[in-house]
Amino acid sequence: MTRCSYAPYSKLAVGAAGLSPDGRIFFGCNVENASYGMTLCAECGVISDLVAGGGGSLVALSVRGGEGQFLAPCGRCRQLLNEHGSVGLLVDRGPDRQPWLLADLIPDGFTKADLPSAHTG
Ligand code: THU
Repeated sequence: MTRCSYAPYSKLAVGAAGLSPDGRIFFGCNVENASYGMTLCAECGVISDLVAGGGGSLVALSVRGGEGQFLAPCGRCRQLLNEHGSVGLLVDRGPDRQPWLLADLIPDGFTKADLPSAHTG
């Protein structure tokens, strides 16, 4: 997916792929913007693809840079993944390292359970 990346500012192409429990794979790439703060991370694309495909919870995710390096999701993406990931969502670290557990990347994260029930649907 890094081939599809739009990263003219940082020059860091990022591609991400997420796996749903039924075996479907969802993709995303980073999309930068001249007003840097509006940049979309590759994980945002994965989640958009997931929701557009009917939704559900991811069970695994891999985020890679253009050189094939494994990347950790940024803080904002950890929060997004916390909403759209299963309890045991695993984040790939490559063949030689144990995957991260999302829960370890965002311990005690804020969730819809923290909202008044009127807002949770
Ligand atoms: N980036 C991602 O796509 N995902 C992350 O989790 C971290 C950062 C992108 C955003 C920006 O285009 C580039 O990497 C440099 O920060």
